[in-house]
Amino acid sequence: MKRRGFFITGTDTNIGKTWATVALMRKFRQLGHTVAGMKPVASGCEWRDGRLMNQDALLIQENAFPALAYEQINPYAFEPAVSPHLACAGAEVSVEAILVAYDSLQAQAETVLVEGAGGWLSPLSLTLDNAGLAGALQIPVLLVVGMRLGCINQARLSYQAIRHSGVACAGWIAAGIDPDMQQAAACVDFLQDHLDMPLLAVLPHSPAADFDLLAAKFKCLEFLI
Ligand SMILES: Nc1ncnc2c1ncn2[C@@H]1O[C@H](COP(=O)(O)OP(=O)(O)O)[C@@H](O)[C@H]1O
Ligand SMILES: [Mg+2]
Repeated sequence: MKRRGFFITGTDTNIGKTWATVALMRKFRQLGHTVAGMKPVASGCEWRDGRLMNQDALLIQENAFPALAYEQINPYAFEPAVSPHLACAGAEVSVEAILVAYDSLQAQAETVLVEGAGGWLSPLSLTLDNAGLAGALQIPVLLVVGMRLGCINQARLSYQAIRHSGVACAGWIAAGIDPDMQQAAACVDFLQDHLDMPLLAVLPHSPAADFDLLAAKFKCLEFLI
């Protein structure tokens, strides 16, 4: 069985990383593949069943096949809804522990999608950021671009920073977060010309959170499979 993993980063926080991750998980499942997801570090968590849990991780857990234990998906859950380097209140975030959790997911599923927190240079602890974790995992990146005014600059900066980190870029995804964005298609075209990696999907605005509809938008996955 071929094993592969991708690190999902984005142009910002709240721009569609989790929804793109879930849509891609559905796509892999529709193709008959096993798929796991991971949110290694999360802030803004709530107490449930005696432990802190995060909405992104729960959505990922719901969409994984085969089923996964919560702690494998989200080894670090912090309660305050602030940047993880503050939310962790000095607690250590161990890259080694995340790598162990990742390896265990990779043993259970052909594809593992790892969602970062915030954007590429956002911190995950006092000593770790998204770029450092993706480098340690040694997996290529998928960049989610939240389509809204200003996203071209954010997307190009993110792309340059990812390349500067020495991590491979496997592709990008346009996420339709703003139903009122003007000239969105023209901005996608511009980014296609200025980002040197394939566009994997243009995800439309789906107020109903129809992840199967979003999954159907991934057309060019041959090189990922
Ligand atoms: N394709 C989409 N269609 C409609 N709304 C979306 C879409 N993608 C994201 N959103 C909205 O944006 C919010 C943030 O998306 P999310 O994937 O959680 O972002 P991130 O993981 O980057 O923080 C979602 O809760 C949803 O309201
Ligand atoms: Mg998210």
